[in-house]
Amino acid sequence: MERCLQYKTNYKQMKSSVYDCVILPLNKIHNRAGNITIVEGQKNLPFNIERVYYLYDIPGGEARGGHAHKELRQLIIAASGSFDVLLDDGINKKVVTLNRPDYGLLIVPGIWRELMEFSSGAICLVLASRIYMPEDYIRSYTDFIDIKMKTHVN
Ligand code: TYD
Repeated sequence: MERCLQYKTNYKQMKSSVYDCVILPLNKIHNRAGNITIVEGQKNLPFNIERVYYLYDIPGGEARGGHAHKELRQLIIAASGSFDVLLDDGINKKVVTLNRPDYGLLIVPGIWRELMEFSSGAICLVLASRIYMPEDYIRSYTDFIDIKMKTHVN
C-alpha cells in the first residue's frame, strides 16, 4: 500500500535535467594480477544499492532501455566492452559513451534513456537504488514528455 501511494508521480523528482546525470570516477586497485573496483552504496554512490542486474550477449545493432523511471536511481557501468547511453530530459539530449569499468554513469529519475552501439561482448552492469517495480517505469515517450512538461508548472 505504501509503495502504491508513493507512485503518485512525484513531480519534484521528475524535474531533472540530463546535466544531473554525471560520470562518476570509481576507485581502481591495480596490481600485476589485474584490477579491482569496489562500489559501496552511500560511500561512493549517492544511494544504497538494492538491486544489481547486467545486460550481456547483446546482438549487434540492438538497443535497450527506451524508458524513464519515476524514482529509480542507477549507476551504469561498462563492465566489459563499450556502449552509448542516450539521455533525454524532454528538452536536452546528450550521448555518453561508456567504455571503462572504473567509471559509472549516474542516471537520476525523470530521464529517458536508450542504450545502443554495444560492442561485441559488452556487459552493461547496473546498480539500482530500488527493487524492480514495473510501476516505476514510464515506457511511453509521449507520456514522458507530458509528465516533464507538467514539472515546469509544478
Ligand atoms: P527491461 O527493463 O524492459 O529491459 P531494458 O530496459 O534493458 O531493455 O526488462 C526486460 C525484462 O526483464 C522485462 O520483462 C522485465 C524484466 N526485468 C525484471 O524482471 N527485473 C528487473 O530488475 C529488470 C531490470 C527487468
